[in-house]
Amino acid sequence: MLPLSDSLVAAIVALAADAIICVDGDQRITFFNEGAARIFGYEPSEMLGQPLGTLLPVRFRSSHSSKLASFGKSQVSSRRMGERSLISGVRKSGEEFPAEAAIAHMPSDSGPVYSVVLRDITEQRRAHDMNERLLVEMEKAVKQRDEMMALVSHDLRNPANAVKMLAGAILRAGGSDGSGLPSDVADHATVILQAAMQMDALIQDLLDSTRLEAGRLRVSPQWTSADDLVSAAIETLAPLALAKSIVLSRNLPPELPEVYADPHRMNQVLSNLIGNALKFTPARGAVTIEGTREGKFVLFAVRDTGVGIQPEDLPFVFDRFWHSKRLNRSGAGLGLAIARGIVLGHGGRIWIESSPGVETVVRFTLPTIESANIRSSPV
Ligand SMILES: Nc1ncnc2c1ncn2[C@@H]1O[C@H](COP(=O)(O)OP(=O)(O)O)[C@@H](O)[C@H]1O
Ligand SMILES: [Mg+2]
Repeated sequence: MLPLSDSLVAAIVALAADAIICVDGDQRITFFNEGAARIFGYEPSEMLGQPLGTLLPVRFRSSHSSKLASFGKSQVSSRRMGERSLISGVRKSGEEFPAEAAIAHMPSDSGPVYSVVLRDITEQRRAHDMNERLLVEMEKAVKQRDEMMALVSHDLRNPANAVKMLAGAILRAGGSDGSGLPSDVADHATVILQAAMQMDALIQDLLDSTRLEAGRLRVSPQWTSADDLVSAAIETLAPLALAKSIVLSRNLPPELPEVYADPHRMNQVLSNLIGNALKFTPARGAVTIEGTREGKFVLFAVRDTGVGIQPEDLPFVFDRFWHSKRLNRSGAGLGLAIARGIVLGHGGRIWIESSPGVETVVRFTLPTIESANIRSSPV
């Protein structure tokens, strides 16, 4: 590297945004660049010969001066920014500001010379403080939202259940073939029942997702046949598959070991995964549920031939309230977040692979007798 000429060094020092200040052994200023003038508000000519302490708040002057003197006697020749705690500077106007400084000392014929490079970090500090404040406010808002959601969901449960029960009672009053009711009344009661069931499911999801977030979602595992878990979910969703002309099938070998799982919670997981597969697969597609033994776990797979998930969307599918922008919005976007929480609560794993338009597979594992850490734990 070529040595820099004095004029080039002078130009660089003049250009620097940082304050570059030199002081002599008596800590009096011998050099004050344009950056220092901008930061401190003094002309360089005003500062020459002035004590360095002028640039510091009064309360720090004496301690700083003795620190500088002992630094001068130490073996350390320089300290970079960040190696020391933050310091404060004081401008000509009297305003204090936060700063970072680096310092070096070099012996010269006329005693030690210190050079200081100082950076005004008012703006960084302001942005940092603002970010911290925003973060605190954001966390508070999320907590308030969750508390509100828990409260509202809880209070909506009773009226939704009343609507569900009474619509069911009206339908039952019509007899098993519905002939005891005028047909429009039976139709309306059916629609009311379906709407109330949807409402109930959404309320359950909201409650579960707030429980999950607060670490209060419980799973109560027991020894269960993998086959029974899949059968229960298929039974619930078979009418939907039929209505959409989708072939819903299963492929589980008979010798699969029992899993240690909460049947109610696993029904929730499988119903959501199969529900998603049916929702995002067009007519005449296929949805298959598989189970295989994988070491000390049973590996389940819900496979569909639907639209799939784009690679850039995959990292978000397990987030609460997330939906693909490409697809029509239906559902609250809570199902996968809850499914993940439940599977993790069982000591399993869950993940998704997708080739959009070809095949999407959601896989999850559940422990068998060899791996179950027997417990009933909050997730
Ligand atoms: N089998 C699937 N095929 C395509 N996209 C899917 C599938 N499963 C989930 N997704 C995407 O993930 C999103 C979140 O799913 P989920 O959490 O179950 O919420 P919801 O079913 O309420 O939309 C869906 O809206 C969809 O965009
Ligand atoms: Mg869903």
